[in-house]
Amino acid sequence: MKAFLFDLDGVLVSTEHNHFLAWQRCAHSLGIDFTEKENELLKGVSRVDSLKKILELGAKTIPDAEFEALLKSKNDFYLESIQDLNQSNLLPGVLNLLQEAKEKGIHLGVGSSSKNANFILDKLSISSYFEVVIDGNGVSDPKPHPEVFLNGAKALGLDPAECMVFEDAASGIAAAKAGGFTAVGVGNPHIADQADIYLNDLTEFRVEQYA
Ligand code: BG6
Ligand code: MG
Repeated sequence: MKAFLFDLDGVLVSTEHNHFLAWQRCAHSLGIDFTEKENELLKGVSRVDSLKKILELGAKTIPDAEFEALLKSKNDFYLESIQDLNQSNLLPGVLNLLQEAKEKGIHLGVGSSSKNANFILDKLSISSYFEVVIDGNGVSDPKPHPEVFLNGAKALGLDPAECMVFEDAASGIAAAKAGGFTAVGVGNPHIADQADIYLNDLTEFRVEQYA
């Protein structure tokens, strides 16, 4: 493999839980039940599509102005909840993997649906590892469409077959596979069957096997 492309929330950092709590608060404000089970449908999904899915779950429609206000309130609550985020919130094995891959000359990139991706990478002090960061601001078709990862591979001048994608979400695994990437599922047993390779966490990954 010539490059590793990482999803952000739930793969590099534990922020997936913060997203869950923020969406749960939003769903409850609409009188819609929302547990970890429903949250699986939202993992990796863009902010706008996530709210659409919550409304579908509750069979509700709301005016555009309320939709926009809820997006803002969800993001404000989410950002507030991650204000103390730092390198200690990196998931197990992340730093070692990034360091080893870099030493072996593997190109590194991020492919995230989040519009907060660069802000979070800075907070984690890991921005310098990545040659390319494609986030929710840089795509017109969000996951499960492969655009985010295809743009990453293109920016590196590589073919998808030369890149491995690390994902914790069903939408992300679908995006990786649709784009022709090797899809590594991480830390979410629900996606174990869909991924080409499955790891409980990144400490299980052996860079030398794929370098
Ligand atoms: C993805 C998360 O990375 O980004 C989703 O898995 C989140 O849970 C999505 O909704 C959008 O993030 P943001 O930060 O732009 O609201
Ligand atoms: Mg994720």
